Amino acid sequence: MQPLPYIEKNKDRFINELFELLRIPSVSADSKYKADVLRTAEAVKEKIKSAGADTVEICSTAGYPIVYGEKIIDPKLPTVLVYGHYDVQPPDPIELWTSPPFEPVMKDGNIYARGACDDKGQMYMHVKAFELMMQTNSLPCNIKFMIEGEEEIGSDNLGIFVANNKEKLKADIILISDTGIIANDIPSLTVGLRGLSYLEVEVTGPNRDLHSGLYGGAVANPINVLCEMIAGMKDENNHITIPGFYDDVEVLSTEERAEMAKAPFSLEEYKKALDLSDIHGEKGYSTNERISIRPTLDVNGIWGGYTGEGAKTVIASKAYAKISMRLVPNQISDKMTKLFTNYFEKAAPSSVKVKVTPHHGGEAVVTPSNSIAYKAASMAMDKTFGKKPIPFRSGGSIPIVAMFKSELGLDSVLMGFGLDSDAIHSPNEHFGVFNYLKGIETIPYFYQYFTELSKK
Ligand code: BES
Ligand code: MN
Ligand code: MN
Repeated sequence: MQPLPYIEKNKDRFINELFELLRIPSVSADSKYKADVLRTAEAVKEKIKSAGADTVEICSTAGYPIVYGEKIIDPKLPTVLVYGHYDVQPPDPIELWTSPPFEPVMKDGNIYARGACDDKGQMYMHVKAFELMMQTNSLPCNIKFMIEGEEEIGSDNLGIFVANNKEKLKADIILISDTGIIANDIPSLTVGLRGLSYLEVEVTGPNRDLHSGLYGGAVANPINVLCEMIAGMKDENNHITIPGFYDDVEVLSTEERAEMAKAPFSLEEYKKALDLSDIHGEKGYSTNERISIRPTLDVNGIWGGYTGEGAKTVIASKAYAKISMRLVPNQISDKMTKLFTNYFEKAAPSSVKVKVTPHHGGEAVVTPSNSIAYKAASMAMDKTFGKKPIPFRSGGSIPIVAMFKSELGLDSVLMGFGLDSDAIHSPNEHFGVFNYLKGIETIPYFYQYFTELSKK
């Protein structure tokens, strides 16, 4: 098998087809894009069909549909289930984009658009790799596609779909490109993802907004109180002070930490890329540990009172914040949500009322790095990058991966091709053409090696 000639011949079309998908604003979080999200599912269905699937269907759910397709060449051969998502994050703040988020452009070898990397570009690599294997008669095993439209809002309906379709989803391994590599010359495979607990808090002071002169100083200001409560959740070492927060945290051995520390990392470059003069985090842990094996607590948004032009002297009635906890193996999302809620309710002074509303969550995962599937992915990357990939744990979350394990008993291979600098979820998200084509080149080797190793 030789993927490169086919890629060389078709790469312009591969890029143009991705542009077509990127032009549809499939923002799952915002209902004003509903028709576009649905249109994207149709487009993905057509693409998988024309790449050579036997059947492709749009499976409706209580939310956005799941595109399911398959090509079964022989039931006795192994089956790879490809997972990805066609929904994207909201484009805001739109004014910080140098070109419109849903009008993809090519600049300096990168494709700029919302979803270019996360996850339309990475998902579409699999569709094109499938086409390549079909066109060059090199598909060695069965393939199933499951592409969802609600990953960015928690995958609740996919969880239900998975639980209800165990037979249909029978496979030997799940293959996902929705993560990244350390650098274009440092290939790597993700072997861990953090879990998540996301919630919203509301602090209520007086029953209406008040004149800050007539009442200021005599009643609790809910914005001040919220800030104090948030500040109180970390100590001077940046340890989270919620009682029990660290109880279940998996403790890594000195050897495991030493192994992790071998992954190449430059603090200077890290700071430079973010325009920071210093970093910040939990005492006793390295930057890489802080974003992989340690849990966090972060405010994602905070609002209340007057934020318009000019000044308004007011004590707001209410203050709000959206808060996330990134979790590590053994911490259970629901339990952490309860711990937070109990703490927050207890910590509130009697001068305010508080309300905590959970959003979505998911469990952390560690995927095996001694399996046939890991080995196949490692060999595939070695083949196309000319270097053996480094296993590493990522700080991000893909909640469905833990459910694939618990519901289907299947491990996932997290073979992503993005870079941290791709600005996913941020303005000016982009994906390197190098990475896009490298993905399309590497994926067929995974199929080849996985099928060969499975026979042994
Ligand atoms: N693809 C990302 C997760 C990711 C990115 C993992 C890079 C590892 C490296 C995914 O689309 C995502 O953004 N997940 C969300 C969680 C979800 C429940 C909203 C996240 O991590 O915030
Ligand atoms: Mn993603
Ligand atoms: Mn994302």
